[in-house]
Parts: sequence; structure tokens; C-alpha cells
Amino acid sequence: MNQNNDVVQEIKSKNDIVDVVSEYLPLEQRGRNFLGVCPFHNDNHPSMSVSREKQIFNCFACGTKGNVFNFVMKKENITFKEALAKLAKRVGINYQYSKNQEVSEQHQELFDAYKLASKYYQNNLASSIAVKAKQYLHDRKINDDLMKEFEVGLSLGTKDDLTTLLTNKNYNLTTLNQLGLSNGEHDAFINRIVFPLYDIQGRIVGFSGRIYEKSNLNKYLNTKETPIFKKGMTIYHYHVAKEEARVKNSIIVMEGFMDVIRASSIGYRNTVALMGTAMTSEQANLLKRLSNNIILCFDGDNAGCKATLANGNQLEELGLAPKVIALPKEDDPDTFILTYGKERFDALVDNAIYFSDYKLDLLKQGVDFQSDLEKTSYIHQMLLELSKIKDEIRCEIILKRLAKECDIGYNTLDKRLQEMKKQEGKRNSIDFSLASNSSNAKNKIEKNKFQKAMQNMINYMLVDEKAIQLYEEEKQVFPDEDYRILAEEIAYYYHMHGKISVSDFYTYALENEKLQKTLDLAVDDVIMELVTKQGIIDCLKVIQEYRLNQEIKRLTSKMEKEVDPLEQAKIAKEIIELRNKER
Ligand code: UTP
Ligand code: MN
Repeated sequence: MNQNNDVVQEIKSKNDIVDVVSEYLPLEQRGRNFLGVCPFHNDNHPSMSVSREKQIFNCFACGTKGNVFNFVMKKENITFKEALAKLAKRVGINYQYSKNQEVSEQHQELFDAYKLASKYYQNNLASSIAVKAKQYLHDRKINDDLMKEFEVGLSLGTKDDLTTLLTNKNYNLTTLNQLGLSNGEHDAFINRIVFPLYDIQGRIVGFSGRIYEKSNLNKYLNTKETPIFKKGMTIYHYHVAKEEARVKNSIIVMEGFMDVIRASSIGYRNTVALMGTAMTSEQANLLKRLSNNIILCFDGDNAGCKATLANGNQLEELGLAPKVIALPKEDDPDTFILTYGKERFDALVDNAIYFSDYKLDLLKQGVDFQSDLEKTSYIHQMLLELSKIKDEIRCEIILKRLAKECDIGYNTLDKRLQEMKKQEGKRNSIDFSLASNSSNAKNKIEKNKFQKAMQNMINYMLVDEKAIQLYEEEKQVFPDEDYRILAEEIAYYYHMHGKISVSDFYTYALENEKLQKTLDLAVDDVIMELVTKQGIIDCLKVIQEYRLNQEIKRLTSKMEKEVDPLEQAKIAKEIIELRNKER
């Protein structure tokens, strides 16, 4: 999305991709497409096809693809804005991109809209309509002071109050849709408790709405990226934590904003949340600015453990030595504080361990010291980690411990460690993936079939709105996170524009590197020409089957580990229910 959307669209539509590409290399028509020698890899054979109809290009040898902007950016090695200017000039459109003034004025209008919306939501929560929502918040021990501090609000179950209010203030529907406040002509947030999201300066740049009554909708609904809301550069509560980090000499990073709200309630205002995403390098740098003492306090479950590893490594790369608070498996900071109280949490903070120790502890978990194979692998991984630790004294202490633990001579280990240190450059860090990856051939075939189905589905969605509608009706969530985000973005794009086109979606993805990568991976050599409803349904079936199988596998292994026969029986019942669904 771009505030200059119209002009971008105009520039794009006047620069036919076939004409533009022809100016760089000869193209020959073959059937519906044009073929040429790809300029992005070394080749004499024509492997790049350009579609006038779809306004995209695609090299089936090197996989480079995209729309006319992607082509020019890549060929000229220029930015999107430079490509825009170049293509505008080519067709005689007057376009300057350095109108900072205008842009910031336009932005002010967007900030104001969110401010108004927030006031409106807060008023709802203060009114008598809000009995149930308030009850929910009180049950969760969020009192009126906290609601005020975090500007909590409520969106109503009626369909367009906020949209009406804002259109009466002269906001047009297109803007409101772009802002994610409206969906078509209706309010985007329906019957949810609404939390404002802030940029690092403390301005509201979006909302997250939580269900508070029984519902099978997503727990949270979030504003998508807009010109003023870039997720990878946003950190929740940063504007408050910024001041507090100086006083407390530390900053605590959590997963969700509920955790931050809870921590605040017991006096920890030096807390921020990444809101369930992996830390980007921008975010890591923003945190580094606040304090050298960064403490990671994520959920106690596997996902939280993974997040700790990924984000800890990210911070280490900036030369920081972050610390970790490991919560009990079933807790997040919110529930921990509610269950055990402030003093127990204080103790956790005081006893936070270094991330590097956390990693070493993790390696040890579940190792069977009776098995030579496991022991060897454990030693190897430990040495790999140790070779990264610069502090020699610490290294020696840990190595001594390891020698004792595994009953191996200290010198043998040290010799191996020194060798590894020499190989510094070549080394890759350990694969910490918690999932076991011993997959047999059958598993692989199944996985490929499923990968293909997800890919097909994405391709269908990019050319036919029928596929998007079916995707949404089926509430089909892709098990693969990258594909899931891509599918959600396609659906979002479709709702925002009322239509879908691969080529235009490429423009949309320009703002988001990760999305663009997934898109490149997903887009097939031959974008589906003819989409049938049955084809889409078949894809969905394969995806669903795979998900069920994965879930059954997960439960089966859980059952095997369970000692309580009653619990075992419960899990068995769940498995049977899933199996029945499969049929
Ligand atoms: P959690 O599921 O850990 O949230 O997700 P939570 O704080 O425990 O929420 P409650 O206690 O159930 O209300 C952490 C973060 O991930 C994002 C949100 O930003 C949340 O704060 N998230 C989670 C979503 O965006 N959507 C979801 O459906 C779930
Ligand atoms: Mn929670």
C-alpha cells in the first residue's frame, strides 16, 4: 500500500511490461507469451517468459520474476522510487517522489484517524453497553487504571458505527480501508476488546482486537501494515520503556502486549513486546539503543523457547550479551505474575541467566548419557557453542564440567575445541530446531505433495478470487507459516482492492522483503491458466489431510510420553476424533 497508490497504478498501467522489457532485450512471441534470454543469469538460451496478459515476467532457469517494477529495479539496480520515476518519465507522467512535506501532511491525517478511533473505542468501553467486555477484563484482573493507561477500548457488535463516524469527519472509505479501520463499508473490528498499537514515538498506528466471548474467530485481529505502520520496525510500549529503561538499567522483552500490561501493573514499565513476530535487525538495534542489559522473557512453551533462541542470537550478533528468564512450560509472563505474584517475578528477574548459558543448558536436555551416540553428538554441539564464547576463563570452566559430565579427558576435549576455533569462518551455527527431522521416504513424499498443494493454492489465489473466497470459507490455515502469511496478505489485498492481480500484488509486496521472497518461491513457472473450483477444493483437501496427520502424530507421541492413564485415554479419544474427521 502506498499513499501515492493512484499514481503508482497509473505509471504501471501505462508501462506495458512487454514493451519495457523489449527495450532491454529482444523478445519473441510464443503463443500467448513472449520469450527472451534472461539478463539475470548467465545463459544464451531463452528462458525468460513475459506475459502481456498477466503483466509479469518469469525466468524458469534462475527463478527471477515479478512485474515491470521488479524488472527495472533489478536490471538497473535501483530502488522502487527510482524505478517509479524512471518509468513515469518514460510515459510522460509528472512524478516527483521527494514531496516530503505533502507526505507528512497526509500521514498526519492518518494519525488523527487512529486517535479518533481510539477515543471512540474507549468511550464504548466506558458506556453501559460494555458490561460483558468489562466483566471479561475484570476477570482477567485488568482494572480501570490499567485500561486507562493502555487506552483499552471496545468495538461494538453493530456493523458500521466507526465507519459512519469517520466518514462524517470527511475521511473517505478508501482511506479507512487502507487504515484497516473499515472493511468495505463496514467496521473492521466487530465486538472485540481493542488495544491501540503504538509506534516508537508513542503515536497510535493501529489496533489489535481480542475476542472476549466464545467465538471461533482468531483470538486477535491486527491492523495490517500501512504507510505509517511497519511491523518490523514497531515495538510495543517502546515509548514508555525508553524512559524507564534508564531508571531500571535494563529492558525486558516479552511476546505479547498482555504480558507488558501485566508487568506494568506490578511496576515493570521497562517492558516491551514484539507481538508474536521474530525480532528483525531494526528492532534489535532499537532495543540496543535503550540498554545493554536486555532480558528476554518469552512464553514457557516450545514456541517461546524457539523465540528465545532466535532473538537471543539476533541480539548476540549486535555484540550484546542478553539474558533470559525461562518460565514454567505452561506460563507466559501474564499468567506467571497472576499465579505467583510480584515477589516471585522479582526473583526471576534478579536471577536471569545469560543467553549463552541458556543455550548450553538446552543442549543437555533429554540427552541419554548411556548412549554413546547421543553423548558424542552432545559433546560435539557443546564444543561448537563453546568455540563461539570469547571469554577464555568461562570456556575453561564449562569445558571442565563437560569433561567430568561425560567422563572424557579434559585434554582431548580441549584439543578438539582449539581445532574448531580455527575453523571459525566456515562454521554454521547449530540447528536448534526442536522438531525431530528423521523423516522416512513416505514422509517425504507426503510432504512434497502437501508443499505442492500449498503452492498451487497460492497460485490459484493470485489469479482467481474464487480461490480466495474458498480459502476464507474453509477457514483453511496453512500449516507453513510463510505461506500462511502470504495467503493472508493475498486475502487482505483482495479485500482492500476488490480484485486480485498477480502483477499488482507484486507491487504490494515490494514493501516487504520477506513477503516478496515467499511470493517468489510460491509463484509457479506456469501460473495457473484455468482455475476450476474442483482443483481448488482438491488442494485444500491435501492441505487439510496433512494438517490432521501432523496433529495425530503430535498427539500420538504425547500419548506415548504420558504416564497418567486417564490423561492417556483422553488423548486417545482426541486422536480417534481426528481420525474420524479424516474420513
Ligand atoms: P499470545 O497468544 O502469547 O498472546 O500471543 P497472549 O498475550 O497470551 O494473549 P491472551 O493472554 O490470550 O489474551 C502473543 C502475541 O502474538 C500476537 C499478539 O500480538 C499477541 O500479543 N497474536 C497472537 C496475534 O497477533 N494473533 C493471534 O491470534 C495470537
Ligand atoms: Mn496470555
